[in-house]
Amino acid sequence: MAKSSAMLRHPVAPQLDPALVLGALASTVLVVDEDGVVRYVNAAGEQMFASGAAYICGHALADLLSPDSPILSVVLQARDESIVVSEYGIAIDTPRTGHRVLTVQAAPVVELPGSVVVSLYEQSMAAKIGTQLSSRSAARSVTAMAAMLAHEVKNPLSGIRGAAQLLEQGAGEDDRVLTRLIVDETDRIVGLVDRMEVFSDKRPIERGPVNIHQVLEHVRRLAENGFGRAVRFVETYDPSLPPVYGNRDQLVQVFLNLIKNAAEAVPADGGEIVLSTAYQHGIRLALPGSEARRHLPLAVSIQDNGPGIPDDLRPHMFDAFVTTKPTGTGLGLALVAKIVGDHGGIIEFESMPRRTVFRVMLPMVQEGDVS
Ligand SMILES: Nc1ncnc2c1ncn2[C@@H]1O[C@H](COP(=O)(O)OP(=O)(O)OP(=O)(O)O)[C@@H](O)[C@H]1O
Ligand SMILES: [Mg+2]
Repeated sequence: MAKSSAMLRHPVAPQLDPALVLGALASTVLVVDEDGVVRYVNAAGEQMFASGAAYICGHALADLLSPDSPILSVVLQARDESIVVSEYGIAIDTPRTGHRVLTVQAAPVVELPGSVVVSLYEQSMAAKIGTQLSSRSAARSVTAMAAMLAHEVKNPLSGIRGAAQLLEQGAGEDDRVLTRLIVDETDRIVGLVDRMEVFSDKRPIERGPVNIHQVLEHVRRLAENGFGRAVRFVETYDPSLPPVYGNRDQLVQVFLNLIKNAAEAVPADGGEIVLSTAYQHGIRLALPGSEARRHLPLAVSIQDNGPGIPDDLRPHMFDAFVTTKPTGTGLGLALVAKIVGDHGGIIEFESMPRRTVFRVMLPMVQEGDVS
């Protein structure tokens, strides 16, 4: 192991064997040589392929997976172009592994020309959310509820509101307080139903080139003059970022909701929100049921220094009506997920105390996109 330790760029405590670290890792790590033959597999990889390292090493990756597995093209691209390539939502189905949906990341090993280190993660949170939202049951419940509310709640409410206004005309001062209350409360409920209604909207969105920095600028200004007055905003933008292929108003909604959540999470004193944009090579989303890959190179992150997201909330973050706030509706992130999904993008988050990051990955305008 002395040899491989020497190759590490970061110093490692002498008693710490890197093999122990790789062995403890929950995700699969493989090293594939220039001939496509596996030369290293960690313990998680042995488990995934339900075989020992002695069997796996020496076998071609194409034999372990299948000759047409999309993972092979990710590995080839990483090797041929000497770049890190990530791809979300790749399905594998072999007798040994069973059916799994994975995120694959391949990176060339500079010190071993032709070799590529491949990491395989079980479906990322983000892609789960995507499938969850597009999955019939989740979408049906929110969509059906939205449609029901619009008809069964909103219509009668306008009648109730109108009746209260009529009563108000002939009412004394005391009773007028009550009729006002009826009007205000019905307005509040109509507002809520209006927020729900976007979920039942199935029309394809109108898209064109959108300057994401203008969107973030606009949202930051809204925040600074309202809910985010006490927060310090830090911007780290990549000015050369190409336009997003998207719908400006909806993207404003996405970042408004994310920044509002961040502003509500940060401490009253010393609250800080970092907005950043970056161009990321090699982020692709495999489209279910087709060979097509969608490139998502534009990454926008919203980071806050709040307390972090409670563990029990994490699996349900993007579900409708999940909230820990006394006056929250729990629709903010559900709407964010829907809009990002409609854009063909991905949203994911990582969270620890004082550092919670929501990262949205979006497509750029490509030749042939209609605007
Ligand atoms: N940046 C964050 N830090 C910590 N917790 C968060 C963050 N963003 C969201 N959450 C948690 O996720 C929950 C759901 O957020 P969501 O935006 O969907 O609803 P909400 O903010 O509670 O209500 P609404 O958006 O309707 O005002 C929040 O109640 C909060 O507990
Ligand atoms: Mg919210």
